[in-house]
Amino acid sequence: MFDVDRFRSYFPILGPPVRSGERLVYVDNAATTQKPTGVIDSICDFYRSYNSNVNYGMYDFAVRATEAYESARLRIAQYLNVSQREIVFTYGATDGMNMLATSYGKKFLAAGDEVLVGAAEHHSSYLPWKNLCSDIGATVKIIPLRGERYELDTDFYRSMFGKRTKLVVIQHIGNVLGNVNDIKLLSKMAHENGARIVVDGAASLAHGPIDLRDIDCDFFVTSGHKAFGPSGSGLMFGKYDLLKDMPPFRTGGRMVNEVSFENVAYKLPPERFEAGTPDIAAVIGFGESIKFLSEIKWSSAKQYLANLSRYCRCRLLEVEDLVLYGSGEAGIFSFNILNIHCHDVATILAKHGIAIRAGHHCAQPLMNLLGAIGTARISLCLYNTTEEVDFLVDILKTCKDYFG
Ligand SMILES: Cc1ncc(COP(=O)(O)O)c(C=O)c1O
Repeated sequence: MFDVDRFRSYFPILGPPVRSGERLVYVDNAATTQKPTGVIDSICDFYRSYNSNVNYGMYDFAVRATEAYESARLRIAQYLNVSQREIVFTYGATDGMNMLATSYGKKFLAAGDEVLVGAAEHHSSYLPWKNLCSDIGATVKIIPLRGERYELDTDFYRSMFGKRTKLVVIQHIGNVLGNVNDIKLLSKMAHENGARIVVDGAASLAHGPIDLRDIDCDFFVTSGHKAFGPSGSGLMFGKYDLLKDMPPFRTGGRMVNEVSFENVAYKLPPERFEAGTPDIAAVIGFGESIKFLSEIKWSSAKQYLANLSRYCRCRLLEVEDLVLYGSGEAGIFSFNILNIHCHDVATILAKHGIAIRAGHHCAQPLMNLLGAIGTARISLCLYNTTEEVDFLVDILKTCKDYFG
């Protein structure tokens, strides 16, 4: 059995009430998750006890900082079942996607090539490729959604590959619809057609271990802050054979072996892609959040979140005139209440100490498909409870009263 009270106790912010007499009900986890004490302490400890830059110093703090930075990389690589030389630290999923479009895209895509991009992608997965394609004369083709739950149309996807299809860009879990894509299947289809696949794992990292070898994607980007880690941390995974042929994204310190006025020799990956002083504290905190994730008993935790999500979906459907979009499979529920603006819904909930997100969720092309200017979005995490869902639904049921 998953012990939710124990799990909540790791998160100091969930303790105190947000306003007198009311508890904080934080259900905006797709935007960012709360941080456990261990992660917060690891960041404070770095600044308090051994703050130093990484890689060059000979003194004790510098050695400790470099060791902590590199052991975060090792821990993360082991968690994702890949080699540590395949983990490039980034400032987040957006940074990783821009890195790929600039480095891989500019070298390996050419005029006339095609990139398949999912219709439900976050702007951070769509815009870097759209811009690259328009710069080089390549084309972005959108993989459509199908059915009432707006799931990826895998049959159509299979039919989209042609001689010039070089790349697929797809989310693992959707931040609006909560749909879970079968990456192993999508990778297989891409590879059978000679294409590479880039996965946006921003929304999936908090949902349990991901075996990148098994799902066999070529690239994977994610953000630490979406899975109990600090903002400013993230990674770009790439298969080493691909990384080693890619040019740097940024240039500067730490990523070169030798520079003269005539020549430059770049380091091998991952250092080649990590120019300048990184956010060392964030990387150390990211490593700590992965330790936290790896200590969760995932079979019971997954069951808990699945039950809570099913419960939330049923309860939401009790609310009069509520339109729900997507499957909500991953505990993410986007909805509208007829004739009430989604920002009004979020404001009413906020008055009761309930934190949700409303708007287009950085997925405006998807909003156009849904025929909505925005949605209200509840995104659950392992520290949420059925009592919180009940409280939230009770308030939702009163929304109409405000507009009498
Ligand atoms: C599915 C998805 N992809 C990518 C991103 C971008 O992540 P970040 O802003 O941390 O770079 C987000 C953030 O909301 C997201 O939900």
